[in-house]
Amino acid sequence: MTTIGLDVGGTKIAGALVDEDGKVLARARRETGIPSAESVASASADLVRELAQHQDVKGVGMAVAGFVDKSGAHVVYGTNLGMQDEPMKQRMESLIDYPVILDNDANAAAWGEFQFGAGRDSDDMLLVTVGTGIGGGIVVDQRLLRGAYGFAAEIGHMRVVVDGPQCGCGNRGCWEMYASGSALLRSAKELASSGTPHAARLREACGGRPKDLKGQAITELAKKGDLACIELLEDLGHWLGEGCASMTAILDPDMIVIGGGVVEAGNLLLDPARHAYGRQLTARGHRPVARFVPAALGNDAGMIGAAAIAAEVYDGAGADA
Ligand code: BGC
Ligand code: NA
Ligand code: ZN
Repeated sequence: MTTIGLDVGGTKIAGALVDEDGKVLARARRETGIPSAESVASASADLVRELAQHQDVKGVGMAVAGFVDKSGAHVVYGTNLGMQDEPMKQRMESLIDYPVILDNDANAAAWGEFQFGAGRDSDDMLLVTVGTGIGGGIVVDQRLLRGAYGFAAEIGHMRVVVDGPQCGCGNRGCWEMYASGSALLRSAKELASSGTPHAARLREACGGRPKDLKGQAITELAKKGDLACIELLEDLGHWLGEGCASMTAILDPDMIVIGGGVVEAGNLLLDPARHAYGRQLTARGHRPVARFVPAALGNDAGMIGAAAIAAEVYDGAGADA
């Protein structure tokens, strides 16, 4: 039995044909440029046609970086995606011959990691994706937490600083303004623009144009021992760990899985995160400390999880296709 999982990000869509064991049988991707509902749907439909060749596909799961309604039909609000009240399921099903179900990108990634990745032996897991924003996926008692309307685990919009920077969601001081890949890049650009000798190698890495700086350069320099970049990752890890401690006060997970591109930094990010987590944990010293681990499926988690969600909904009788 196979399904297709799509992961819709800000500028590209990744897709995979996935079997019931979470194995990727084929993969493909498309650039969308500046995303709109039309461009995302037509590129997604293209990907599905390409991946579905010669296969008996049961359905399509689509992981989207935004608020998705509980029925998996609408993108209600895409904070970094430029999409609101979009009936994406219907739009997609008018273009292809398979049933489509939507989910939030981080929920899908959490489900992928829980079923086939780092969380396989966990019962209560928190997944945090560190990318353009911060995404969250919460597994409680082996089930994905959805909330009353489908919007549970929007953890990136937990407020951590009163009157902090403006977030795409309309509020200020959200966690994703401090602990996302975008936040890391913002701090790095600030540092590179300041002219301090401390940031010499960072400035070199962007040819003296801080606005051209790429997130990857920060990780690479940190791995080569550049102190300024090591500190930038430490600061990010600190915000990440503290936020996870607050989440733990609510959820009490046994495992915290960190995903997203920044995880490439490995322990340069995770050690400071673990330290800040342990330091901020309520009742510390009197409780078990959750394992803090990198995502095992890497960037595939979202599409594998989306495919698994489609498999659960569309395999066999009773599917509401
Ligand atoms: C969005 C979430 C999404 C996360 C990661 C946040 O800004 O509100 O829906 O999961 O970014 O893409
Ligand atoms: Na989520
Ligand atoms: Zn926000």
